[in-house]
Amino acid sequence: MEVKTGEKRTIRIFNPFFISGFLLVFIYLVLKFGIHPPIPSSLIAMYMGIIIFAIILYISSSESIFQEFLHPINLFLTLDRLKVPRTVIGIFIPLILGFWSYQMALPKYEPPAGLRTIHPAPPDEISVKDEKIVLSKANNPFRGDEVEKYKKEGWEIYFSRCMPCHGDNLNGNGHWAKRINPIPINFRDPGTIAMMPESFIFWRVAKGGMGLPDEGAPWDSAMPVWEHDLSAEEIWKVVLFIYEETGFQPKKWQ
Ligand code: HEC
Repeated sequence: MEVKTGEKRTIRIFNPFFISGFLLVFIYLVLKFGIHPPIPSSLIAMYMGIIIFAIILYISSSESIFQEFLHPINLFLTLDRLKVPRTVIGIFIPLILGFWSYQMALPKYEPPAGLRTIHPAPPDEISVKDEKIVLSKANNPFRGDEVEKYKKEGWEIYFSRCMPCHGDNLNGNGHWAKRINPIPINFRDPGTIAMMPESFIFWRVAKGGMGLPDEGAPWDSAMPVWEHDLSAEEIWKVVLFIYEETGFQPKKWQ
């Protein structure tokens, strides 16, 4: 197959080369930005593959269309006055491909996909400030007639100690949260404190991430150990506050 250049120097605007290029870009943009909700990039790649296949079918459907398709490419590669753009593109394409493959080859730093039990089984008994507490028997001493008063005291503890991580709205969205992995618990999520007895939450606050049993490994939780800074009473109050504020009822031990 020989392509004679130089004979025909004009190109139709509806040349198959331009139509194909336009179609590729147009369809890609529609798939990428025109569809809501957005579709996954693997699906876009698949659709684009089908489109490219259809375009190849169209171009190769007749000899004259194929020649017309090649025509702009031939002119670009041979015309004297296109020497500068030709050189520029000739330098840039290898550079871009090189940079791209370099990026692909770079090692990626991602956190290991660790499996973590969110609610590991607690010990039967803990001691806080030398006081022994049997978790399955312990009840919040501040649940009585004066709940509102103790909730307010719990509120003060929460806002001075817990808010930077667990957020002012108790949804785990405090200003430190974005730098912490695993993220602070969202107390408003029905899968967290709402599923647990109150003394389980007492245990978690008193012993923090360090106090998690082996099941809770890897021990990378930023949840502080509060038994050194807060009394058992203060911990019960802040636990009371979290339940009352979110409106969840603690579960009973089974
Ligand atoms: C430095 C950030 C930080 C602070 C401050 C903090 N927490 Fe946490 N907390 C976490 C992280 C991270 C987790 C999730 C990992 C885990 O379970 O240990 C968590 C988990 C918890 C859980 C477990 C909930 C569940 O469903 O298992 C409770 C309860 C809790 N925090 C209460 C508190 C209370 C109460 C305070 C304040 C006295 C507090 N936290 C202060 C980071 C923090």
